[in-house]
Amino acid sequence: MTTPSPFTTARIRSDFLDFFRGKGHEIVPSAPLVPANDPTLLFTNSGMVQFKDVFLGAEKRANPRAADVQRCLRAGGKHNDLDSVGYTARHHTFFEMLGNWSFGDYFKKDAIAWAWELLTGVWQLPAERLLVTVYHTDDEAYALWHEMIGIPAERIVRIGDNKGAPYASDNFWQMADTGPCGPCTEIFYDHGPEHFGGPPGSPDEDGDRYIEIWNLVFMQFDKQPDGTLVPLPAPCVDTGMGLERLAAVLQHVHSNYEIDLFDALIREAAALTGTADLSNKSLRVIADHIRACSFLIVDGVLPSNEGRGYVLRRIIRRALRHGWMLGTREPFFHRLVGTLCTQMGDAYPELPARRELVERALLAEEERFAETLDAGMRIFDDVADRSGGTTIPGADAFRLYDTYGFPLDLTQDIARERGLTVDVAGFEVAMEKQRETARAAGKFGGGVQLPADLVARLQPTRFVGYDAQRAEGLSVLALMRDGRPVQAIEAGDEAIVILDRTPFYGESGGQVGDTGELDGLDTRFTVTDTQKLAGQFHGHVGRLEAGILKVGDTLSGAVDEARRSSIVLNHSATHLLHGALRGLLGTHVAQKGSLVAPERLRFDFSHFQPVAEAELAEIERRVNHEVRANHPVSIREMGMQEAIDAGAIALFGEKYGERVRVVAMGESVELCGGTHVGGTGEIGLFKLVAEGGVSAGVRRIEALTGQAALDHVAGEERRLREAAGLVGGTTQELADRLRGLLERQKRLEREVEAYKAKAASGATADLGSQAVDIAGIKVLAARVEGLDARALRDAMDRLRQQLGDAVIVLAGTSDGRAALVAAVSGRAAGQVRAGELVGFVAGRIGGKGGGRPDMAQGGGEDGPALQQVLAEVPSWTAAKLSPA
Ligand code: ALA
Repeated sequence: MTTPSPFTTARIRSDFLDFFRGKGHEIVPSAPLVPANDPTLLFTNSGMVQFKDVFLGAEKRANPRAADVQRCLRAGGKHNDLDSVGYTARHHTFFEMLGNWSFGDYFKKDAIAWAWELLTGVWQLPAERLLVTVYHTDDEAYALWHEMIGIPAERIVRIGDNKGAPYASDNFWQMADTGPCGPCTEIFYDHGPEHFGGPPGSPDEDGDRYIEIWNLVFMQFDKQPDGTLVPLPAPCVDTGMGLERLAAVLQHVHSNYEIDLFDALIREAAALTGTADLSNKSLRVIADHIRACSFLIVDGVLPSNEGRGYVLRRIIRRALRHGWMLGTREPFFHRLVGTLCTQMGDAYPELPARRELVERALLAEEERFAETLDAGMRIFDDVADRSGGTTIPGADAFRLYDTYGFPLDLTQDIARERGLTVDVAGFEVAMEKQRETARAAGKFGGGVQLPADLVARLQPTRFVGYDAQRAEGLSVLALMRDGRPVQAIEAGDEAIVILDRTPFYGESGGQVGDTGELDGLDTRFTVTDTQKLAGQFHGHVGRLEAGILKVGDTLSGAVDEARRSSIVLNHSATHLLHGALRGLLGTHVAQKGSLVAPERLRFDFSHFQPVAEAELAEIERRVNHEVRANHPVSIREMGMQEAIDAGAIALFGEKYGERVRVVAMGESVELCGGTHVGGTGEIGLFKLVAEGGVSAGVRRIEALTGQAALDHVAGEERRLREAAGLVGGTTQELADRLRGLLERQKRLEREVEAYKAKAASGATADLGSQAVDIAGIKVLAARVEGLDARALRDAMDRLRQQLGDAVIVLAGTSDGRAALVAAVSGRAAGQVRAGELVGFVAGRIGGKGGGRPDMAQGGGEDGPALQQVLAEVPSWTAAKLSPA
């Protein structure tokens, strides 16, 4: 070993920040991996993400210079390195990016000069090991490198649009398909000719010899959805340097996985999986993935089947499969979090602060996948064998996905290791087929497609049902029957009515659709459900009871008020429940789904263990406290930012428009489009009725409100009184009485057991006297009724003691079956074998048996044959006993 390099990752972070602080930069903390309010981006994939609005001119900063160390994730979305992890020395899903920024302040000249100063001055990298690329038309950057810095022309490479479209280039950086972008210049480090690979722009550029360490982007444009580039208000600088790559260079190792930070993780992973070879690729994958997964959870993502949660699940499952390949069958992944905290906790205090949450979430996912990983791998092997060594059929990949929880990219990863590919198109077909089946099985309204021309022609339905549940003068804009638009429907037709305005709430945000009636002069339409179609039309689903209803007719509408009132109570109670859960269990509780129906409410939320009895009682108490406080419910429309400032809880992954509806009651503030009570006192009573698990890390609570809650309590009371009556006491005495009864029952059971044992020994006590003497050996063959195997063995022990030199076979009978026990003891041993004796008896009663020479067991049928064979045992034994 050479002496350890002074450039630990911790030192590199601080050197970098110190350097740019010295150049007038404000040091800002790393933003979370989940970008705030940016639907165009799955994850923070680079340092500039948190400054996007500053580039676009929508946000101003006091200091136009900033620097930071940003945690980044490149898995899923435009920048995705997941498939390269484990295959190269330098790719990660999670990594740290050192960055410095100018927001309309300095530009190319300073950015280039400072980068060079830091690399070759502070960190003393040899200039001759560095080379640079520039965007092909960027003569300014070229000149700065060549003339100002003095890099010879042969080490400056111009890179054009090498990715098949205008501005699609390694030297034109874009955050996502839209947003800030611009040409860039990149600095490469040459790891030396002993490594394979060519310089940038050459056919072998993807090798491991020339590694990009720093990218300086000259942000100049905002890319529009149609591809046009709109100039930014001011040209900016955005730089990014991968901490891990730089550490590899400064620590004189070739692979990022050999740097200090990874060394500790890899050693721990090796210890946990019992792996001796520290260069095993699987250890690297695991070490990479534990960082990505832990920080995703720290930043609020939990494993799920869609969106960000699914990316997390995919990464975890990949890691688990690599653990499996190393032979590990126990949960191990979550046990790496401690080492990660030691390595990164100083730089990211939010990690140790959430350590327990991270460990629990990972363990839950490990336990969940453990149920199918093994079986899935066997299926994969079968399929691979059948594939003839080329392609895994799409249907099989889908089966692995659907039944065994193998994400497609996991199957692809396994296939790749074995030189196979996966039929992705076939997988998609199978997936689509399942979606269709699911849709067909879904609710009537949910599956209805409105024709595009109808959607384009109609104004969205105006919902007037927040305050009123009746409305007049509603005009029929469209009618749908059998999935098609029609001009008129007749009495008896099942149809969907679309109106210009409606008091009927369309199912959304967990709240079910309203029911009720639409009436015309001589028409009556019963509404059995209201669904939102194409997101903006309320489809009144139901049946025309009388008359003929035509497009253009005018109707009055009346919602079933009693039903709606019950729904409203449940919806407001859901908000109070959400608040109470977060207050008591912690803010990791996030809504994962809800159903607000007239009969009850159901609320799914993220949490890692069953909610304890005492916690449930406390939650119920808190909600009822809020109910009794009778908070007025305030509902206001406002801009998204204002809502966030007001502390509104938005649902993760939900899309909200510009204007949002904010529902506040007491401490609870939520974005919500549903209908609510005027004051929380209307809820009357909140009663929790069930708590259970839905999937890993997701719990479900069901509850009742208002009259339904009272009815529930009354029902419970009635049942209690009935039970108390049965045991002859009051409900207060019930538990004590029951306890008494149970104790009495236990005592009686013990007594019965004792009597049985006594009866058995009584039945067998005088058996000994039935033994016959053959040449000094006692031979006993007897049938005893009602003894189980244990009582039979006890009896046998006693008889052996009593008879000394003996050959004994007992047949315990019950229900037409005979259990046989045979023993040979004293001088008889060696002459007669117990196994043979049982064999002899069992053979005659249609059974089997066997055992040791001194003790054997068997069984067969009870009946005359048994009596017969037992009678023959003395002569059978006599024949075996050799003359004394
Ligand atoms: N945003 C630039 C990158 O990620 C610096 O490479």
